[in-house]
Amino acid sequence: MTWFTDARFGLFIHWGIYAAAARHEWVKSYERLSDEHYQRYFDHFDPDLYDPESWAEEAANAGMRYLVVTTKHHDGFCLWDSDLTSYKAPNTPAGRDLLAPMLDAFRARDLRVGLYHSLIDWHHPEFPIDLYHPQRDQGEDPARDMAEYAAYLHGQVRELLTRYGRIDTMWFDFSYPGRGFGAKGRQEWRSEELAALVRELQPDIMLNNRLDLGSGDFTTPEQVMPPGGVPGHVPWEACQTLNGSWGYHRDNHDWKPADLLIRMLVDTVSKGGNMLLNVGPNARGEFEPRALDRLREIGRWTRLHGRAIYGAGASEHRPPPDCRYTRRGDRLYLHLLSWPMRHVHLDGLAGRVRYAQFLHDASEVPFLEIGDEPGHDYLRGLPEDTLTLQLPVTRPDVAVPVVELFLSDR
Ligand code: GLC
Repeated sequence: MTWFTDARFGLFIHWGIYAAAARHEWVKSYERLSDEHYQRYFDHFDPDLYDPESWAEEAANAGMRYLVVTTKHHDGFCLWDSDLTSYKAPNTPAGRDLLAPMLDAFRARDLRVGLYHSLIDWHHPEFPIDLYHPQRDQGEDPARDMAEYAAYLHGQVRELLTRYGRIDTMWFDFSYPGRGFGAKGRQEWRSEELAALVRELQPDIMLNNRLDLGSGDFTTPEQVMPPGGVPGHVPWEACQTLNGSWGYHRDNHDWKPADLLIRMLVDTVSKGGNMLLNVGPNARGEFEPRALDRLREIGRWTRLHGRAIYGAGASEHRPPPDCRYTRRGDRLYLHLLSWPMRHVHLDGLAGRVRYAQFLHDASEVPFLEIGDEPGHDYLRGLPEDTLTLQLPVTRPDVAVPVVELFLSDR
């Protein structure tokens, strides 16, 4: 499990035929599209520019350490060559299994690989119509047999976990017991059996929390920044979008700037979590320029600041306003989210720091403690145990400047 909490930063990929609709991966449900209508995306899905090596390269350069990819989303479309359905990539103009080369490409760059798999299926004829189903206006269809669908679900999971080598995380999505008509949870999915199957086939896998069986091996807050971290000792991974949509969304303008994404990563690690950042590739098989710009800018920061992220976690020290701490062993990292005027005062650290430097260029950051400089006005009135860093007036030209503090105690 340590690989997971050390990795801290991963890439989520939502890719399927909804990329052709280019207006959210829930488009079939949102617009109550019929199977006949939705078929146009299947018939025209031809990702001629798909180059998973370049995806893996972009992810590695952004500083990401693992991948989670949608094998099947709620629309039921399968990225791999399943024996259990014809609703799969090899039968589109793509004409091949799109999953296998992706897993190979990411592994070749030493990234771990995880599979997102939708419990929900808006294509399977036995999946009972429910409150989210595109055909929900027809109401329940008593002829549909949940047991048959569950057998399909389990069978596909068996394929995924036996044909593609070692899989590091399994990310099921999602359960909604008691949420209205046709609601589904552990009984419908046969979650206990499914979890047992996953563990039997891949004993070292990390299993997420959306099977309606409690916390799983890790929990998955979605598109929120948990204010105080996630309670308890279960590892957590906040999944985040670039623009609010998981699937490729052409006309969406809700893009987060790179510096916000970097601050989100810092905030997450400072609370002991991982960040799984999503890209929705388009239907030609590419990351669009708006996504690439952000990944590359994040990469410029992580290249210099990885020591404060990988293998780092929460600190017991309380950071000054507009700052976050991350800690790894004898190093405490002060992330300055806004740039102060010359000094930053650190509570409780007097006498506990051997040396301080900026992380981006390893240049010394001098500091003062109360006893050292009785004459300084700016130290007056501060608690005895304050350590004051002396910062340049000019803010270093990095998205979030970080001071590395070498602690004298461990
Ligand atoms: C959801 C959504 C979805 C997305 C996901 C990511 O619950 O249904 O479209 O794949 O969570 O966390």
